[in-house]
Amino acid sequence: MEKKVIETKVSIYSFDELQTAQKSLINKAKEQISKAYAPYSGFQVGAAIELENGEIFAGSNQENSAYPSGLCAERVAMFFANAQYPDIAVKTIAIAAFTNGSFLPEPITPCGSCRQVLLETEMRFEQNIKILLYGTNKVFEIENVKQLLPLCFEKRSLNG
Ligand code: THU
Repeated sequence: MEKKVIETKVSIYSFDELQTAQKSLINKAKEQISKAYAPYSGFQVGAAIELENGEIFAGSNQENSAYPSGLCAERVAMFFANAQYPDIAVKTIAIAAFTNGSFLPEPITPCGSCRQVLLETEMRFEQNIKILLYGTNKVFEIENVKQLLPLCFEKRSLNG
């Protein structure tokens, strides 16, 4: 029998410590809050994506009265970006969440389905996607999606 320990590396910053480009992408994610459609949860999420060519795409969560038909901000933004630029890699995604009148003090991390979708894009372009998770008290930076989804199911798993 063998045991394996899997670690996730997270760098923790205050917002002020970030580089200008990182702050700007986070601000774009924050701006998306006002465009979220979240009448059922009252939990608004914004995501902003920077592509390798410098283009920025952003999205927010879009809920539905048939709950599972809604979509998280991360997937709205990622599918939007991939649909516009199917040949351009994604460099960074920034995520911010807002509820009860304020941004959350601690970052939220993407749900399992979003991790799977983000991973597909990372693998598709064979390039790390940096993840910036915003909280008013601290910002998490994660080097790539694989860190968030170890032991993942991926394209090559289909080959057996
Ligand atoms: N949500 C996101 O948009 N992103 C996340 O990372 C977590 C959850 C949305 C889904 C739903 O509209 C609401 O937040 C509450 O779960």
